[in-house]
Amino acid sequence: MAVQKLKDNIFYVGAIHWDRPLFDELVELPKGTSYNAYLIKGTQKTALLDTVDPEKSYELMRNLEALGIEQLDYIVAHHAEQDHSGSIPDVLERYPQAKVVTNAKCKAFLMDLLHIEESRFIVVKDGDTLDLGDKHLRFIFTPWVHWPETMISYLEEDKMLFTCDFFGSHLATSRIFGPKDEMLIYEGAKHYYAEIMMPFRNHIKKHIEKIEQLDFDMICPSHGCVYKNPSFIIDAYKDWVSDRVDNEVLIPYVSMHGSTKKMVEHLTDALIEKGIHVKPFNIINVPLGEVAMALVNDATVVFATPYVLAGVHPSIASLAYLANALRPKAKFATVIASYGWGGKGIDHIKGLLSNLKVEFLKPVLVKGDPKPDDYRALDDLAETIYQKHKSLGII
Ligand code: FEO
Repeated sequence: MAVQKLKDNIFYVGAIHWDRPLFDELVELPKGTSYNAYLIKGTQKTALLDTVDPEKSYELMRNLEALGIEQLDYIVAHHAEQDHSGSIPDVLERYPQAKVVTNAKCKAFLMDLLHIEESRFIVVKDGDTLDLGDKHLRFIFTPWVHWPETMISYLEEDKMLFTCDFFGSHLATSRIFGPKDEMLIYEGAKHYYAEIMMPFRNHIKKHIEKIEQLDFDMICPSHGCVYKNPSFIIDAYKDWVSDRVDNEVLIPYVSMHGSTKKMVEHLTDALIEKGIHVKPFNIINVPLGEVAMALVNDATVVFATPYVLAGVHPSIASLAYLANALRPKAKFATVIASYGWGGKGIDHIKGLLSNLKVEFLKPVLVKGDPKPDDYRALDDLAETIYQKHKSLGII
């Protein structure tokens, strides 16, 4: 993206990746993404905050040239992942006097990942300040959002927070402060939270408490838009990381010959009739991100699957593996399954969900196509879920 001014002597110099299909060869990017880098010109020193994915290095260099930057003193690295650090070697080559300012853990990562020489680093500690003349950057360590070395910085005089991945969103937009439709911003941020940040919600709770002690009016993450109204994203995060769950059941399912689908449709209707919201997702057709977003707040997850070779369908097993890694705050889980000659679906799913603190409800296992007794068992499951949600006070 072209250079954009945020405040006096503070510029956006990052790049938009409009058509990147996948991140980490895993996360779909239906709305693209961006790698936000920021340039701060103090009266004494000039600092670049993060860089961009190496594929977009030429855009960052073009933006620095457009601003006429001949002297760059510091490259602040908040996080070592290559979508933000990958262009540091190019910047160091163009500005041989520049130093990489980061913490000890990040320095070690950068030396491993990018082979940057040790002499190019200035190592900072939590709470240290970088003096740019009329502007001062204070470093605040925020480990595990989402790597162990992650930190943010606070520009004291301008009341701005630079948070790197924290509060980011995979959203490509030419509007630096986001599209007019706030729901697009919310969904982009929730998508990002679900797939990147959710496993670390307890760390995030503590970081938000620390951040809220600061006086700031702008949050500048390294993906997606800049927040001129910080409470918008902070309030959303507070909800996502809280222990509160929604009166909603996520049903990820696969159906090979239609039997499992009949079970899903019956259970869905039975839950709706009891006033419970439902999200049945055929995971063969639905992007993984949609399922991950539902995992953020849903109280219950029902894995619906046919058996393949005496176990759950590999696509459901893969989803359960991912759900386990994302550590959602769901309170209840179970399996509904159609089998041919036997299997151990519930044990298989339980084994895959060892990280989750869920109560496993009685599964409904059907031989072949569901029969009247099987539908009654699904009604019983709907009633059990109703009672469980009632016990949480969410109905
Ligand atoms: Fe956007 Fe963890 O990198």
